[in-house]
Amino acid sequence: MIIAPSLLAANYTRFGDEVLRASRSGADWLHLDIMDGHFVPNLSFGPGLVRAVRPVSKLFFDVHLMCSQPEILLEPFAEAGADEIIVHVELGEQVTSLLWKIKSLGKKVGLAINPPTAITAIQPHLDQVDLLLVMTVNPGFGGQEFIHETLPKIQQAEAWRRERKRSYRISVDGGINYQTAAECARAGADTFVSGTTLFGAHNLKAAVKKMRTIVNAHDPALADLAV
Ligand code: DX5
Ligand code: ZN
Repeated sequence: MIIAPSLLAANYTRFGDEVLRASRSGADWLHLDIMDGHFVPNLSFGPGLVRAVRPVSKLFFDVHLMCSQPEILLEPFAEAGADEIIVHVELGEQVTSLLWKIKSLGKKVGLAINPPTAITAIQPHLDQVDLLLVMTVNPGFGGQEFIHETLPKIQQAEAWRRERKRSYRISVDGGINYQTAAECARAGADTFVSGTTLFGAHNLKAAVKKMRTIVNAHDPALADLAV
């Protein structure tokens, strides 16, 4: 189980300290939300910020591109220190070549899907990805409410993983708190992106520990062993 605080919910007056706080929290990854004001109606940060905070932390940098033209951003983010780059399946025809490009840059390959998009859209790409990101809110803003109708997508992604003997991660992003993290874990998620609940916590270390304990307790694989 991977716990990934999202920098989108950090204190913007001190990014370096916030990345350090995440590093020392026991979290596994740092999730970085990149918004272009076009694919989503909001702007966040660019490769310059990723490059600036990279030396502060050894955490795995999980870079989520919510951008209409990711092809112009893959190299800049790869050079800035991303460990994984996630693009959206809603981009359509270009997705296959984007995924190849990410791999050719030596980075882990991620594919995200928005709540209104049918899960079948990701099916042709399953052999190409290291991680599937099931958006559990409509992307663009932190602090939104979890959309429960996305849970069957997690179950389907998990069923395909089992059937096809694949090992991609299933990540969830948006409205993840202690309760919804448990529901996602039960559905088959293994990677939990959380902004407001984690960075918003006064004690990030305690919040990460609590989320980890909860998702482990709802891990269906461990439940099987206990029977
Ligand atoms: C939403 C972003 C999320 C966001 C989650 O557009 O992709 O990563 O940071 O924030 P919370 O946990 O506050 O919903
Ligand atoms: Zn995200």
